[in-house]
Amino acid sequence: MKLCTIGCGGHSSDVHGPAQQKAAREGAVHLVACCDLNETLAETYRARFGFERAYTDIQTMIDREAPDVLCLIVPTHVTSDLAVDILRQGIPLFLEKPPGLRTAELDRMRAAAHSGRVPNQVAFNRRYMPVVARTHDILEAHLPPEAVQQINYEMTRFDRRDADFSTTAIHAIDAVRFLARSPYHEVQISYREMPWMGGGVAAFTLDGTCESGTQVRINIQPIAGKTSEGACIHAAEHTLRLSLLGADGRQFQGYLEHWQKDRLAERFQATGDLIDRNGTFGEFQAFLDAVREGRIPRPGLDDCGQQMALMEALRRRLSRVDFAESRQDLLAPELIVSRLS
Ligand SMILES: NC(=O)c1ccc[n+]([C@@H]2O[C@H](COP(=O)([O-])OP(=O)(O)OC[C@H]3O[C@@H](n4cnc5c(N)ncnc54)[C@H](O)[C@@H]3O)[C@@H](O)[C@H]2O)c1
Repeated sequence: MKLCTIGCGGHSSDVHGPAQQKAAREGAVHLVACCDLNETLAETYRARFGFERAYTDIQTMIDREAPDVLCLIVPTHVTSDLAVDILRQGIPLFLEKPPGLRTAELDRMRAAAHSGRVPNQVAFNRRYMPVVARTHDILEAHLPPEAVQQINYEMTRFDRRDADFSTTAIHAIDAVRFLARSPYHEVQISYREMPWMGGGVAAFTLDGTCESGTQVRINIQPIAGKTSEGACIHAAEHTLRLSLLGADGRQFQGYLEHWQKDRLAERFQATGDLIDRNGTFGEFQAFLDAVREGRIPRPGLDDCGQQMALMEALRRRLSRVDFAESRQDLLAPELIVSRLS
């Protein structure tokens, strides 16, 4: 399969380039071309990861190379327009999260993908982290979704003064949706604003329920003393504690403990390279396999509606998102919201 990739910036160079290079070494793809508006970045990426040619214009690259699959790793505000153009040309697309900044952008991308039945996958890499995948397997083996009582998820970062942290918080929202194995039903959100840290800086707490009845709580703190991410899941006789970021904070070491009847049933430690531990290689490999075998890649744009609605709610400082109401009213599976008074 001929692979072209768009966006040769920070995140691409840190994780996607190494994953693409590994996939090429394993014979899964042929690295034909990379593209960035910045010619130096495109050429550096080409030379570092072994692409044949570098471009500064996406359409020129597509017309000349006729790729079988495309990766899109660009700033969030341009993702949607570029993705729609690519999907309309029928090229299977692997794109970074979030899939656009608004649910309306997601809808445009979904429409473009549907009309040509174009395979697509969103890089919610938590789902492919070995620690999260193993947790999901244990839940599937022992507990139907309705049997899970609580999922508590915490995401902390050090000195992240982003004006809009919702585009990172969406990772936590997606990870909980994945582990719950059930759609969100209703979510209440509270905010602790920290204007002295910068415009838009705030801590978020999302408190909700899933259709399964599972209670979920997500705490997001972007200016904590330590970078960390983890979850604790409780059901009768079972507790799963997982850490997605290791002891040194920035590294995706990851471990999981499964406690059953007050005894440690399993301790799982993620191993391998960074791109294995943080799920980047696993998600890319899953996308390539799905395209090759004619299966629907997951998570696709169609799997992201609730995550996008909640991300948008955080940005707009909404206090509640009720997915049940939106279904009853036969509206699009978007949001019926009540504004923070
Ligand atoms: N999964 C994660 O944990 C994670 C972490 C960081 C970033 N990301 C995501 O990765 C994406 C990129 O983030 P980044 O930090 O690498 O940004 P970045 O700004 O470092 O890199 C983006 C690159 O895209 C290029 N670009 C923009 N428009 C283009 C166009 N029309 N044609 C060709 N190139 C174009 C820019 O020149 C830039 O070099 C974002 O969507 C972000 O949300 C994900």
